[in-house]
Amino acid sequence: MPNETIRIFHSHLSERDFTGEPIADEVLDAIVESGRRTPTHRHGQQISLVVVRNPDTLGRLWQAIAEGIAKDQQEARERLGLPADAAPVVPRLHPASKAPVFILIAVDFHKTSVAVQAGGREQHVQESLEGWTVGAVDAGITLGTLSAAARSFGLGAVAIGAIRHDPQPIIDLLGLPKWTYPVVGISIGAVNRPEKLVRKPRLPLSTYRHDERYDPEALTPEILAAFDEELLAYWREIGKPGTTWTERVQPYSTSVHPETKIVAARQGFTNIE
Ligand SMILES: Cc1cc2nc3c(=O)[nH]c(=O)nc-3n(C[C@H](O)[C@H](O)[C@H](O)COP(=O)(O)O)c2cc1C
Repeated sequence: MPNETIRIFHSHLSERDFTGEPIADEVLDAIVESGRRTPTHRHGQQISLVVVRNPDTLGRLWQAIAEGIAKDQQEARERLGLPADAAPVVPRLHPASKAPVFILIAVDFHKTSVAVQAGGREQHVQESLEGWTVGAVDAGITLGTLSAAARSFGLGAVAIGAIRHDPQPIIDLLGLPKWTYPVVGISIGAVNRPEKLVRKPRLPLSTYRHDERYDPEALTPEILAAFDEELLAYWREIGKPGTTWTERVQPYSTSVHPETKIVAARQGFTNIE
């Protein structure tokens, strides 16, 4: 039977229309504590948050994110061979930039290194795909938890992975030390909600839930085409421009995102290919 927790998860949607109203300290503290209580691989606690509320820092952060998104979109346009006469992409502030709080979720092997050194040894986990995977998984658990905690207070939330399009300015702005990396951010705050909330469709359950054994044939061309139609109907219903899922996945899924490896190596993460 659905309960309040399940209702929160089943009604999930990313919300970006923030009112700008500040979040009470005790609410923010409870959200952050929910993140801190999440499980971590081997109790390594390889996650740290940077909670940003200062308007000047938020302004600089969102400007850096806007420039990263523009850079990424321009690169994708050129790579996918979009019209040569298309005007260059100009950085535009993300709608979520009005949120009063941005929480950066960083994978953090700085803290474990303090303990490893105290044990008289050298840390190497950051030089492994295993370490990178552990950090990304723990960051994802944190993201989901912060989002659900925020929504339990009636707030809106949206994940911001766009910080990774050009992570270096964000690393510099927020002072992330060696062996840390900005995996994802989350904007939280009060939001304006339309009268009717419409959830973004998902691919059918048959392509998501595989009982006992994975079925690589689950996503048939017919199912894909039907889902593309369903997504177009969603965009029409909410009155926003949008594309099919087939089109939507092209720019991101056709790139190897070389910037991540370069900046990650600068932060001390190696052997992650
Ligand atoms: C790790 C992660 C990163 C995301 N990054 C962004 C982002 O940078 N900007 C944005 O507007 N939405 C971002 N999203 C939200 C997704 O676009 C959204 O979850 C997806 O379109 C499905 O919509 P829904 O969450 O409303 O169901 C992100 C979601 C996740 C899980």
